[in-house]
Amino acid sequence: MAGRVVVLGVFNADTTYRAERMPRIGETLRGLGFALGPGGKGSNQAVAAGRLGAEVTIITRLGKDAFAEMALDLWRGAGVTPAVTRSPEGHTGAAFIFVEAATGDNAIIIAPGAAAELSPADLDANAATIRAADVFLTQLEQPLAAAARGLALAREAGVATILNPAPGRELPADLLRLCDYVTPNETEAEAMTGIAVADAEGARAAADALLGLGAGAAVITLGERGVFWRAPGIAELVPAMAPGPVAETVGAGDAFNGGFATGLARGLAPREALRFASAVAGISVTRPGAAASMPVLAEVEALLARG
Ligand code: RIB
Ligand code: NA
Repeated sequence: MAGRVVVLGVFNADTTYRAERMPRIGETLRGLGFALGPGGKGSNQAVAAGRLGAEVTIITRLGKDAFAEMALDLWRGAGVTPAVTRSPEGHTGAAFIFVEAATGDNAIIIAPGAAAELSPADLDANAATIRAADVFLTQLEQPLAAAARGLALAREAGVATILNPAPGRELPADLLRLCDYVTPNETEAEAMTGIAVADAEGARAAADALLGLGAGAAVITLGERGVFWRAPGIAELVPAMAPGPVAETVGAGDAFNGGFATGLARGLAPREALRFASAVAGISVTRPGAAASMPVLAEVEALLARG
């Protein structure tokens, strides 16, 4: 079973600048390199799922510009069906990504443009597709009201729901009740709970708080330390997979979420879906780029078979 995944989210054209450091205000700094490529959390997650063989639809909004063509080409190549409206005035999403040369660490500014105009009506327009899905997946780069409507429509139809709460922010009290899984990283978990996730104990406490807020399960991604998974009766660390040296971590969380949604949609038990997702993320960080670094199913299966 391939499984059907519906993603609500944003496409960004990623403009990535590598430099020794960030420029100061008023300063012009000569950088070490530049790359333009497809990104945006929703699109990255949809592309990951599409390359892994899921039947994927992305609900989003683009402008009428060259970056929109980049998005449509990308989805065509990854087997992602666009459920897209076009804004006459808003630009297609774009992201400024600074990568610090020495450490590979990054800092990102996103400008969702047209996608900032997404509203609950865009979800209502795609209600039939959402109801027919196995998994509904969203993030927080587009307006919260759109995410909430998508989660509600999916929940009413018994479709599994995943909220990747990125970028991190405090959420309205009832939103997590609509989520079977919430998948923050350390910073996002802290933004949502006020609990620092510096160690295993912190992860456990933050996950407990997320369950207390109504999430069905909390999956806290801890980078190279793996993933802490908490559900009623379960508290477990799923180790990360590192098939090679790290090239670039931008999009690793998206690889994980797209992989997790695909695993669940294929009928894997949550623990197996988390292992699958860890393999997808592990491969993605060995390659540069966001959407460009997502693996295909055969690569993930080969890595999992190695144990
Ligand atoms: O998660 C990585 C993504 O965050 C990048 O592709 C960038 O576009 C931002 O949305
Ligand atoms: Na990558």
